[in-house]
Amino acid sequence: MKNKIVAGNWKMNTSFSEAEDLLVAIAEGINDMILETDIIVCPPFPYLEMAADVSEESGFLVGAQNVSSEKAGAYTGEISATMLKSAGADFCIVGHSERRIHFNESDEMLIKKVNNLLDEDIIPIFCIGEQLAERESNKQFQVVENQLNNTLFHLPESDFERIIIAYEPVWAIGTGKTATPQQAQEMHAHIRKLIEEKYNLKTAYSTYILYGGSCNSKNALELFACQDVDGGLIGGASLKAEEFIEIINAAETCIKNN
Ligand code: PGA
Repeated sequence: MKNKIVAGNWKMNTSFSEAEDLLVAIAEGINDMILETDIIVCPPFPYLEMAADVSEESGFLVGAQNVSSEKAGAYTGEISATMLKSAGADFCIVGHSERRIHFNESDEMLIKKVNNLLDEDIIPIFCIGEQLAERESNKQFQVVENQLNNTLFHLPESDFERIIIAYEPVWAIGTGKTATPQQAQEMHAHIRKLIEEKYNLKTAYSTYILYGGSCNSKNALELFACQDVDGGLIGGASLKAEEFIEIINAAETCIKNN
C-alpha cells in the first residue's frame, strides 16, 4: 500500500501570530513521530514564507491555497506561481469549490492555473466534487467525470502524474456532513477507473486521491482505511494542532495496518 497524504487547508483564517503558534504546534506535535504520511500545510499567502521556515526544521511540506491564472505583470492583487515557489510553496490547491462558486473560476482559468503551477514545479492539489442537488439526482459520477475531462485529462501522462486529486463533495464541505466511507470509496474507485481508461493502470494506481469534506479526528480512520482513499484534505479540523495531529495519526494507523 502506498503512503497517505494529509493536507490542511486553513482557508481565510488566523492572524500572523495565530498562524505562527499553529505552525509551531504542528511542528512540535509531529516532532517525535516517524512519519510515513506526507503532511502538507496550506496557510494563507502572507504566512507562506513563515510556514516554509518552520517546515525546514520539521517534517511537513508547504502549499498555497490559490494561484493566479496569469503569469506576471499588470494584474493588481494577483499572486503568481513564480511568487509561490519563491516563497517556499511546493503544492497549491486549485479548483476548490469555494473558488469556483464565490469567485467564478471557470474551467479555462483552472487549466491555466494548473499549467502555471506545473511550469514552476509546484504540485496542484486539484479539487473536484458534486453539489448536493447533483448527488440527490444521482449525477455525481457524471459531474466528476466532466470535471476531469474538462480540466485535467488534456494533460500528457507525464504532467498528469504530478497532480494530486481531492474529491470534495460540495455538500460535505464545512457542513459537518461527511461522506460515508462507502460513498467516498465508491467515488474514489470511479475516479481511479477514469484515470485508468484515460491513461493506464500504473498512473491510476500511483495517483493520490484525497477525500475532503468535514473530515476530522473521529471519522478519518474509517475514511482513510478505504482502499482508494489516499488521505485527506482537511479544512476546519486543520486549524487545531491536536485535531490535525490525530488525523495524521489515523493515516499512520492505516499505513501500518496494511
Ligand atoms: P472542511 O473543508 O474540512 O472544513 O469541510 C475541507 C475543504 O474545503 O478543503
